Amino acid sequence: MANPFTLGVASGEPLPDGVILWTRLTGVPGRAVEVRWQLAADERFTKIVQQGTARALPEWAHSVHVRVAALRPGTEYFYRFRAGADLSAVGRTKTAADPASADLVRFAVANCQRYEHGRYTALRHLAGERPDVVFHVGDYIYESPQAADPVRRLDRTGEAVTLADYRARYARYKSDPDLMAAHAAAPWVTTWDDHEVLDNYRGRGDGSAAFLRRRAAAYQAYYEHLPLRVRPEAGALQMYRRRTYGRVADFMLLDVRQHRDAATMLGAAQEQWLLSRLATTPVRWKVLVQPLFFARRFVPGPAPNLRMDSWDGHPAERARILAAAGGLVVLSGDVHNHWACDLKADFLDPSSPSVGAEFVCSAVSSRPPETDAEAVLAANPHIRHFDGHRGYLSGTASATGFRVSHKGLESSGVRTVAEFLTDGLRIIRVDV
Ligand SMILES: [Fe+2]
Repeated sequence: MANPFTLGVASGEPLPDGVILWTRLTGVPGRAVEVRWQLAADERFTKIVQQGTARALPEWAHSVHVRVAALRPGTEYFYRFRAGADLSAVGRTKTAADPASADLVRFAVANCQRYEHGRYTALRHLAGERPDVVFHVGDYIYESPQAADPVRRLDRTGEAVTLADYRARYARYKSDPDLMAAHAAAPWVTTWDDHEVLDNYRGRGDGSAAFLRRRAAAYQAYYEHLPLRVRPEAGALQMYRRRTYGRVADFMLLDVRQHRDAATMLGAAQEQWLLSRLATTPVRWKVLVQPLFFARRFVPGPAPNLRMDSWDGHPAERARILAAAGGLVVLSGDVHNHWACDLKADFLDPSSPSVGAEFVCSAVSSRPPETDAEAVLAANPHIRHFDGHRGYLSGTASATGFRVSHKGLESSGVRTVAEFLTDGLRIIRVDV
């Protein structure tokens, strides 16, 4: 039998004392398979810290999610799996900082990795940074049929609808060596956008049994392919949560799809959770990690001038979040270009106070839309910067500063195309 670890390894959901280890076996018989795992203090596995056995079950696509606990905070570990005589690749992970820690946090953000649109070179460079944590803010896969003019081809080219379709789509994406390298380099904390299910879907979609079956299949496949701490139940998957790094950074992951309808982006329960944490957290930096462009973005020209699928469709909800936070950093994506914005108490009044900063992450590979950036910048004085490279965000949060870099991909490699410093109320420095 061939080595079953063809989709690589991953870790995620770091806590001060624990982490999730993930892999998924391929090409194995349709029954439970025993998988041994090891976690070590060193890359050569001479100092084993913990080890155990997990069962990879066919009903979960032979995925494995090992919940490791009782680890040391802010500590690097290495892990691997074994099935029979076959060994997996080695992954590096790191626990979150101790709650009392003031240590600097190094993070990266990525999103929008349509397979046929390009290679994952951005993720290879991201992997090389070995950050403390990677946030992925959606469009991990695209459910769509194969794009025209593909740079590389899907194996199953139709639109994903069934569980088998979504599983095959993830397997294709995860066969990419740069994506595997990025997962093996650091723990990931992910949230989804729309394409993990269906373009621009909201909540229960059209409410039909067929849509809910499809959504449940998509959510199950998402779980099966990512290092999540909780599994789906009854067609739902708890996604909004926070991951806190000491006294320095409170990263709040939002779910802008599952609980949504025409009246609300987040749904009452998620909004309540968020507003309450924003108002009471003792942590220095309040950081929203979510897919959608958060600042108002008026696009001059023919209507529609505002993108209603984004936060411009829910301005009152956005205003409540900004008011509760009293200083906020937003990390977002979705639009396949880099942007940086000041967040305003009232976006329609340029003289109103700035109450936060947003850094929008360009795509790993998905093609950018036609954008007249000059016109958008001119029409929105609070939008401070645009960059059209593909790439990712790289940043640090410390007790005294919050920095973000736009990383841009060029034929010669990756380069910092712009660097920002924020005080949590506005962007106070831009270096290009
Ligand atoms: Fe996208």
